[in-house]
Amino acid sequence: MAQNWTPDSWRSKPILQVPEYPDQKALADVEARIATYPPLVFAGEARKLRSRLADVANGKSFLLQGGDCAESFAEHGADNIRDFFRVFLQMAVVLTFGAQQPVVKIGRIAGQFAKPRSSNVERKGDIELPSYRGDIVNGIDFDETSRLPDPQRQDMAYRQSAATLNLLRAFAQGGYANLENVHQWMLGFVKDSPQAERYDKLANRISETIDFMRAVGINADNHQSLRETEFYTSHEALLLGYEEALTRTDSTSGDWYGTSGHMIWIGDRTRQPDHAHVEFCRGIKNPIGLKCGPSMDSDGLLELIDLLNPENDPGRLTLIARFGHDKVADHLPKLIRAVEREGRKVVWSCDPMHGNTITLNHYKTRPFERVLSEVESFFQIHRAEGTHPGGIHIEMTGKDVTECTGGARAVSAEDLSDRYHTHCDPRLNADQSLELAFLVAELMKGGRDEDTRLAAIG
Ligand code: TRP
Ligand code: MN
Repeated sequence: MAQNWTPDSWRSKPILQVPEYPDQKALADVEARIATYPPLVFAGEARKLRSRLADVANGKSFLLQGGDCAESFAEHGADNIRDFFRVFLQMAVVLTFGAQQPVVKIGRIAGQFAKPRSSNVERKGDIELPSYRGDIVNGIDFDETSRLPDPQRQDMAYRQSAATLNLLRAFAQGGYANLENVHQWMLGFVKDSPQAERYDKLANRISETIDFMRAVGINADNHQSLRETEFYTSHEALLLGYEEALTRTDSTSGDWYGTSGHMIWIGDRTRQPDHAHVEFCRGIKNPIGLKCGPSMDSDGLLELIDLLNPENDPGRLTLIARFGHDKVADHLPKLIRAVEREGRKVVWSCDPMHGNTITLNHYKTRPFERVLSEVESFFQIHRAEGTHPGGIHIEMTGKDVTECTGGARAVSAEDLSDRYHTHCDPRLNADQSLELAFLVAELMKGGRDEDTRLAAIG
């Protein structure tokens, strides 16, 4: 167990990105109440995810992690969750088929509510108000009452997470994710989409294979792996009071687990080794993600790895690279070499979103070709270093939004205003998400063919 660690030991460390709650007593009351609520996830599930991620670290699986930049209270509906899950399953199928590797599926969902901000305040004209920090903290509307941090929102976030997770569990295990439904996930998809046609072809091949297997006695009734999928949840562990309230000891192992989600990550702005967020995360046994941006150097990374994964467990730490399409080649190789030199086991994942944000027509957007370009570079770099490009981490939605420009059914700068719905950063729409999955599948296939070629040469 981590030394000198308690669920509240982060409270004595410096901390960034904390909301200024006007009423500390009300905050403490809410946290005390949440501490009595049932856990959202179980230690056994987090342990299982660690072992799945260990397979990724060892080059045997691929990680698909994605979802909203920020979940919102206003858009909490079954349709939204289903549409997200449906596209996510389609992506997973495309990747599994293309890479011929298991895909570990983790949503940025059922807890992704707290946002770090570059400024504590937002100014419009003469008015200055606290920045929006996610629905778990305050409201997005630009007025004084809405922007005042309200601890009761943590209670709402907990309840919304529970309801979302309940539906996701039903989808993953109750029949919706059955591989025999591979065609149904297409229903409602943008009709004139080039991806639809491509997906349909792939789904036909899968259906044919399933029909063949059924003929030889293997079917969804007698094989759980055809009938169900494992789906895990994740979010940034930013609001530590909330995270602490949901930290529990596991009765079977005696270890501490965060039970707000299966995996949690530390953001690029809050990863100072002597600060609160790293302190909190080092003591819980969940799989942990660490965002690595351009300011991360090799020594800093190794120091964080020592703190967060002292036992060098392969499934414990996922390094989420988010450099930007034009910076990834400058930064990633050095970090990979440092990790390899020190023999550290990690999962390498690529977040092609956060380093590629620009402003067009007053909208925050991300050009899809830059997103693709960062993913491509990520794969090339790993091939050159002989390491495993373990996964991708994306901001996406199942809806037909116009938030990122480009894609096969191109969204232009002028289109951005049509359906720009995000509460925070621009997300890939359903079409762009699927297009990205096809590209990644090709990249993985390329690597596989390369491995086969090298093996043949001996
Ligand atoms: N259980 C396997 C898996 O999760 C196969 C599977 C079932 C699957 N339903 C799926 C794969 C939906 C992708 C999407 O990988
Ligand atoms: Mn974001």
